[in-house]
Amino acid sequence: MRAVLLIGSPRGDRSTSRALGVYTLEGLRSRGWEVEERFTCRDVTTSEGLTDLLAAVERSDLLILSFPTYVDSPPAAVMRIMETMHGRIKRGGALLAIANCGFISSSNNTSSLSICRLFARDIGWEWRGGLSLGGGNVLAGRTLEEAGGVARNVRRALDQAVSALAEGRVVPRGTIDRMARNIVPPFIYNITANRAWDRAARNNKVLDRIRDRPYMEEEQV
Ligand SMILES: Cc1cc2nc3c(=O)[nH]c(=O)nc-3n(C[C@H](O)[C@H](O)[C@H](O)COP(=O)(O)O)c2cc1C
Repeated sequence: MRAVLLIGSPRGDRSTSRALGVYTLEGLRSRGWEVEERFTCRDVTTSEGLTDLLAAVERSDLLILSFPTYVDSPPAAVMRIMETMHGRIKRGGALLAIANCGFISSSNNTSSLSICRLFARDIGWEWRGGLSLGGGNVLAGRTLEEAGGVARNVRRALDQAVSALAEGRVVPRGTIDRMARNIVPPFIYNITANRAWDRAARNNKVLDRIRDRPYMEEEQV
C-alpha cells in the first residue's frame, strides 16, 4: 500500500502541517506502507510540478492533505490541487485531511475540513476523516517528538488514526475528538499570544496603535 502526503503550508518544512503529516506518514511507513511527501506550494507553481503531483496522487492508495487554515479555508495552493484533481483525476482513492489553525479552538478548522469532505464526495473518493488541531503555532516548527509533552495528546490521536488507516478504515470518532482537544489551556494560550502581538508591535514601533480599527465603519448617528 502507498500513501502520499501533500503539505499545504507555505512554511514548508518548518510548518506544523508538515510535523503532523510526517508523523502520520512515518506511522504508515512503520506498518510496511510505501510513502511519499510533496510540498504543494512548490508543485503548483509550474505545470510540470502539477503533473508530477497528480501522478503521485494517482499512484497512491491514500492521499493525506495536511494544511493550515487560512481565513476559514484551505490555502490557495491546496484549493488549486483540489480544482486540478477535480478535472483530471482518473481513478478512485481515499482522502484524509489534517487541518491546523492559529486560534486555540480547533472548531476554526470546521469549514476547511468540510471543503475537503465535500471535495472527496464530488470526485467519488472515500472520505477517511478530517483531523483538526487548534493552536497550531504552539508546535512552532518542531516535530511532534521534539515538542515533547505538549504534543503527547496529538501523537496519541495520530497513532490511533494510523492504526485505522493502515487497515483501510475511517478514522474513528473518538480519535477525531481526541485530536480536537485544546493543545494548551486557552487562558495560557491567550496570555502568550497577546504578549507575542505586543512584542511584534513594539518591535515595529506601533504598540500605541495596536487597538486601531482602520476599517471599522463609522457609527451611524
Ligand atoms: C493568511 C493567514 C490566514 C489565517 N487565517 C486563520 C483563520 O482563519 N483561523 C485561524 O484559526 N488561524 C488562521 N491563521 C493562522 C494559521 O492557521 C496558523 O498559524 C497555523 O498554525 C499555521 O500552520 P503551518 O505552520 O502549517 O503553516 C492564518 C494565518 C495566515 C498567515
